[in-house]
Amino acid sequence: MSFPTGFLWGGAIAANQVEGAWKEGGKGPSVADVATYKPHTDVKDYKAHNAISMDAIRKAMAETDDTYYPKRRGIDFYHHYKEDLALFAEMGFKVLRLSIAWTRLYPTGEETEPNPEGIAFYRNVFEEMQRLHIEPLVTLSHYEMPLHLSVTYNGWTERKVIDAFVRFCRTCFEQFGSYVKYWLTFNEVDSVIRHPFTTAGIVPDLCGEKGELACCYQALHHQFVAAAMVTKLCHEMIPGSQMGCMLTKLTTYPNTCRPEDVELTLKKNLDNYFYSDVMIWGEYPRMTLRRLEKQGIKIQMEQGDLDIIREGTVDFLSFSYYQSCTESVDPNAERTPGNTILGVKNPFLPANDWGWQIDPVGLRISLLELYDRYRIPLFIVENGVGSKDDVVQPDGSIHDPYRIDYFRRHFIEMEKAIDDGVELMGYTSWAPIDLISASTNQMSKRYGFIYVDQDDMGNGTLKRYRKDSFMWYQKVIATNGEDLT
Ligand code: BG6
Repeated sequence: MSFPTGFLWGGAIAANQVEGAWKEGGKGPSVADVATYKPHTDVKDYKAHNAISMDAIRKAMAETDDTYYPKRRGIDFYHHYKEDLALFAEMGFKVLRLSIAWTRLYPTGEETEPNPEGIAFYRNVFEEMQRLHIEPLVTLSHYEMPLHLSVTYNGWTERKVIDAFVRFCRTCFEQFGSYVKYWLTFNEVDSVIRHPFTTAGIVPDLCGEKGELACCYQALHHQFVAAAMVTKLCHEMIPGSQMGCMLTKLTTYPNTCRPEDVELTLKKNLDNYFYSDVMIWGEYPRMTLRRLEKQGIKIQMEQGDLDIIREGTVDFLSFSYYQSCTESVDPNAERTPGNTILGVKNPFLPANDWGWQIDPVGLRISLLELYDRYRIPLFIVENGVGSKDDVVQPDGSIHDPYRIDYFRRHFIEMEKAIDDGVELMGYTSWAPIDLISASTNQMSKRYGFIYVDQDDMGNGTLKRYRKDSFMWYQKVIATNGEDLT
């Protein structure tokens, strides 16, 4: 029992959470640049952290002090990328998942020609990765669409955005196709429903009578069409390339064997599969359309959309896995927040300080379920644990046994799933370096093997330090997962 030869070990980051330099190199503002750090809001209240309005956007854009807009500064990967890539190479990374900020190439999304400075930046990054023998896995859209498209068209609700995205992707394939073989379209495409602004640029005030939920499904349809178009384009423009879809895997357990709990759980799991069903099988599940119809939601589709979706299916399925969920029909069941969900508390699982329940066996269950359903290669492109306990010792060391323990237990389950016959291409931890949290905009929710000296308010030297887990992961990669001690 072991990891296959050539297994792609590495880590995952996103432009909006690391790059910073939000006004440099001709970059335009993205939805991430108005995301606000709310120090007095309960970190478990993800809805409050993700709340947005036109007023909040105007206020943010008028604000010149960036203290409360941490994604504008990230961890300054824009200027530190060589140092960070060298650290990833030192850990032995075979792959790095990263995203391309749409607004570095097309500041508003509507330009007809790309910004040469943006292209030069990513070209430098990919060249450096090539030199270090790190394979890129590129996400084309990771929570960073142009703010202009969001406020002008209410994001992806407007069909016009498809053209803008295809133009951006075509530029990426043209400019970076010689460096990049593995691509992903939308990060956690299912998350449109949970945080519509972050994922699809939808501002509730702009939804009008139609309502936010209907806007979300319309936006999703446009993303499905766009994803299928660029998947086809990628195959045409880059011979040998592979395109994946990306799902938040929210494996749900019934709280009891009460049939109603089991039925609710089944529906939750089917809802989670809806997105990958469309992108892998190339068609809308009949039951989802029926559910939407019953909710009074009618997706506007143009003639030919379903053909595009059918012809643009993906080569592999990638997913994030942080936790499992539990469901119950009992209104009194105790609930706990997790990865932008509110599920029933599972008494068998510990949780981190943000309430995300830790369940390594759930990863194995997810792998088995996904592979059994789709029979295409899988790629775990996010998995990790946020912690506020990392402390730099006087000698510069950082002891994070909890992180090592988290990864070890997840790797053991991955190994078992591979042994069960699952085809797993690789694994990229979230995140190999401390970065700005997507949901709470905190710096103190630390995920990395590498510590970055910066606090929630942006104070710090930005110096990078190796945590104990850095050396541990280095050993795991060097032995291809044989030595997990
Ligand atoms: C995933 C996102 O949902 O979870 C990442 O793709 C995000 O962007 C990660 O950072 C962890 O979530 P958070 O809120 O702890 O940063």
